[in-house]
Amino acid sequence: MKKGNTTIIVGAQWGDEGKGKIVDVLSENYDVVARYAGGHNAGHTVIIKGKKFVLQLIPCGVLREGRKSVIGNGVVLDPFAFMKEVNSLRGMGVKVDGHLFVSNRAQVILPYHRMIELAAENAPGRVKIGTTSRGIGPAYEDKMGRRGLRVVDLLNKDLLRSHIANACREKNMIAHALFNSEPLDADKMFEEYSEVAEQVRPFVVDTAALLNKSLNAGESIMFEGAQGTMLDIDHGTYPFVTSSSATSGGAVIGTGVAPTAIDTVIGVTKAYCTRVGGGPFPTEIHDEMGDILRKRGNEFGAVTGRPRRCGWVDLPLLRYSAMINGISWWVVTKMDILDELAEIPVCVAYKINGKKTSEIPADSGSYDKIECVYEKMPGWMTSTEGITEFDQLPAKAQSYLKFMEKETGAKVGMVSTGPDRDQTMFVEGFKAVVGQADKKHASPK
Ligand code: IMP
Repeated sequence: MKKGNTTIIVGAQWGDEGKGKIVDVLSENYDVVARYAGGHNAGHTVIIKGKKFVLQLIPCGVLREGRKSVIGNGVVLDPFAFMKEVNSLRGMGVKVDGHLFVSNRAQVILPYHRMIELAAENAPGRVKIGTTSRGIGPAYEDKMGRRGLRVVDLLNKDLLRSHIANACREKNMIAHALFNSEPLDADKMFEEYSEVAEQVRPFVVDTAALLNKSLNAGESIMFEGAQGTMLDIDHGTYPFVTSSSATSGGAVIGTGVAPTAIDTVIGVTKAYCTRVGGGPFPTEIHDEMGDILRKRGNEFGAVTGRPRRCGWVDLPLLRYSAMINGISWWVVTKMDILDELAEIPVCVAYKINGKKTSEIPADSGSYDKIECVYEKMPGWMTSTEGITEFDQLPAKAQSYLKFMEKETGAKVGMVSTGPDRDQTMFVEGFKAVVGQADKKHASPK
């Protein structure tokens, strides 16, 4: 029987919408923050009083003292990446131990996942996705193929030994036959993994039980999405997607909290749009304006450092994202990056073969034919950096946000006007949605 409040924070574009900062700000009002999909391919940057934290695997909620942070069963866990992040957080004085929990049912990333991914990305005849090279896709392949290693099995030495021996035999043969890769040493892998398993062990619990128990005790949960809607394995720009369910539906599968327990879905979108890696991007800017946005917005990958492709905000895509996720509120980030523009093109519709369409195409052939219909919004040409009240935004910036609301049917609840926690504004009505409104976390648990 659910009692606590639940909110899913989901990326509405191709990831990198600034979810890290938003989860960090909103987590003030939540008791638990849970990751439900992806792995250390995510890069959530949070700046607190000028200090920068980049989290790839651990939920941003860990930066709020007294909260519980959960890595759910839907995540693929590289135990070395996990321990590296844990140790760096410990080094920065963040209280991790006793507050961070890893699902015993999460899948483990092993070295052959990375080996196969790297080789496959460059193999002739394969579509080059431009992955983060973290072994994410092959780890999910093994999960769905029912030959993966779960965290609970990582902790069982006998099982771990036989799993690694069998998997290495198979993967080495496949990788040699397909890509002429050098074989990996199973004994060495077992030694390394059995050692790191002991470091991971104290964090491992049945997180589905923990989350449901928390809910029943009246605690509130925020689900921290990774990547974005258009990178979702089912609903994104397939095959240029990640290998997990990044959309809000993934939150229930990826944590074991029932769909009936979800109260609100919040979509995070930039005031423009970016994408990293290959694949369709209808509103991509191909001239120097793209470089201007990249520079002003510091649009370089938090995980791989790759320059992000930049484009204008895409309302058909946001409408689609709102539909797939059930988004009722937007959080708009990086508003200030548009401050100097005299006019801002906004894509309001797609045309394919000269005909307007209200659907998002499924095939890449149609994506290539998309012609964006733009409406030019006047720029506000004055700084919005650090503004924290909606009515203090320039009138044209307010109109820009209202236009987004009108065109997508979801309300703008929050706007980010700079990277720091404090450079954030709440729009009227939103505080009541994000749990306990103005309630500060009175007593850290
Ligand atoms: P993978 O998740 O490493 O398999 O990469 C698949 C695609 O998703 C590539 O285009 C990546 O650039 C993209 N991707 C994965 N994680 C993120 C993210 O956190 N932000 C943006 N793009 C991502």
